[in-house]
Amino acid sequence: MLRAGELVAFPTETVYGLGGDARSDLAVARIFQAKARPRFNPLIAHVPDLASAEALAVFDDRARKVAAAFWPGPLTLVLPLRAGPGLSPLVTAELPSVAIRVPAHPVAQALLRAFGGPVAAPSANPSGRVSPTRAEHVLAGLGGRIAAVVDGGACAVGVESTILGLAGGDAELLRPGGVPVEALEALLGQTLAMGGHAGRPSAPGQLASHYAPEAAVRLNAMTVQPDELMLGFGPVQGALNLSETGDLVEAAANLFHLLREADRMAAGRRIAVAPVPDTGLGRAINDRLRRAAAPRG
Ligand code: TXA
Ligand code: MG
Repeated sequence: MLRAGELVAFPTETVYGLGGDARSDLAVARIFQAKARPRFNPLIAHVPDLASAEALAVFDDRARKVAAAFWPGPLTLVLPLRAGPGLSPLVTAELPSVAIRVPAHPVAQALLRAFGGPVAAPSANPSGRVSPTRAEHVLAGLGGRIAAVVDGGACAVGVESTILGLAGGDAELLRPGGVPVEALEALLGQTLAMGGHAGRPSAPGQLASHYAPEAAVRLNAMTVQPDELMLGFGPVQGALNLSETGDLVEAAANLFHLLREADRMAAGRRIAVAPVPDTGLGRAINDRLRRAAAPRG
């Protein structure tokens, strides 16, 4: 199906991706159409290993170092695009850089190796909505608009890859995700500032609504109000709990599924979410929760 230019959703350890042949303008255009994604928002090219990644982008010493430490895994690198790699210009939204990821999930690895080329894959959800961590989430959002979904069960990490920008001068964090920022900072020996493109806007009012359930969301809630359903964390109890033991890894793995469950149970009520510490995977969880709670466009 991928070779025929069709769209196939597949599991990665972070979330399910909506895959299409990254060398085909038609396949990539279909991805944007199926998700109703704005064309200026570039996609991640997925490859099985470093050698395939080096065919698409220019790696410097920093890039090789982080790739050696975290690939395959939940890390995406934004690097200078190599001349003439055969990628559709729609993948990079005509930027001079390209986002590349080598996923660790065995099904993703097998798919990429069998296909034999780069696979463009955003998260397999309608643009702006909650990302899918199970095959049934993909079908709930995109059923009828894609050729197939490969069912690999629930995603172990549960939040998208960390995006590290290495295309310009200083390394910058473009999105917190499955690799803790602290681990990247320790390896690079520097602190990472939040960068521009995929990054967090400087003022809260600029926060783009994203990862949004149907229900309105209230953050940092210590107690539940009558018109709310509570999503707890650790000792702050709720009808649902991200992690009873306050484990951030477990909370990340549960996040998108429980946002969907909360939406289903809320029945017109708001979703209140307990505070989550802003360290390790908590950085990625809070980033997604802030966007879920942002004013809708
Ligand atoms: O975990 C993940 O990364 C998942 C799985 C499927 O691999 N994919 C994913 O893709 O989250 P998506 O499209 O939902 O998010 C990709 C992000 C977007 O915010 C996009 O703006 C950014 O990557 N991006 C892509 N190319 C870029 C570039 N050249 N420069 C800066 N940001 C880029
Ligand atoms: Mg996404």
